[in-house]
Amino acid sequence: MGFYGDHVVPRIINFACGMKMGDPQRRRVCAGLTGDVVEIGFGSGLNIPFYPASVNSVAAIEPADVAWKLAQKRVQSSPVPIRRSGLDGQSLPLDDDRFDSALTTWTLCTIPDPVTALREVRRVLKPGGRLHFVEHGLAPDENVQRWQHRLNPMQQRLFGGCNLNRQIVSLVQEAGFSVDELDQFYENGAPKALGALSLGTAVAR
Ligand SMILES: C[S@@+](CC[C@H](N)C(=O)[O-])C[C@H]1O[C@@H](n2cnc3c(N)ncnc32)[C@H](O)[C@@H]1O
Repeated sequence: MGFYGDHVVPRIINFACGMKMGDPQRRRVCAGLTGDVVEIGFGSGLNIPFYPASVNSVAAIEPADVAWKLAQKRVQSSPVPIRRSGLDGQSLPLDDDRFDSALTTWTLCTIPDPVTALREVRRVLKPGGRLHFVEHGLAPDENVQRWQHRLNPMQQRLFGGCNLNRQIVSLVQEAGFSVDELDQFYENGAPKALGALSLGTAVAR
């Protein structure tokens, strides 16, 4: 990816994603996680403080070495064992039917083929296992959508391939999940183009 992508982008993401306004969403999306969890796009481990006591272990999937390095303090002080278990959500080196829950937060915007990644998540989840997600995506309002489409090429260049205008719920459904809980809202304090969130859970159909 080059110096900017490998070294600068993970630090920008650590700063931007670490802003306190995301905490209520992290708390909500992590509630109900249980047993062995696979988290795709683990980043710098910003969800660690929000894992509930019902989590036994976390398999972290993260391509960026710098992000994993930035996560180390949190990983080492986590009461839950966390192991870096893969580099690419689109191809998980993990057994079928292995995990009780899965987590993705602000990641489906960036994975080049999010449906393939979600199908991988579905494969490694046990029957009845639940995917928890909070993701930004295409806004409900046309005037915001217009800005999202306009700004998308710049967003992708500056933020490591991040897309503003993906339809998150459709992607989850296309991968074979049924969404059973969903809240869609603009995040307080975020620009609307970046803050149109879908927060929910889904189970394999
Ligand atoms: C905006 S960050 C979000 C990080 C973290 N989930 C959070 O909430 O703070 C997106 C993350 O997805 C990771 N990512 C990019 N491509 C990926 C892929 N193919 N598989 C898994 N993760 C990927 C990036 O390295 C980055 O850490």
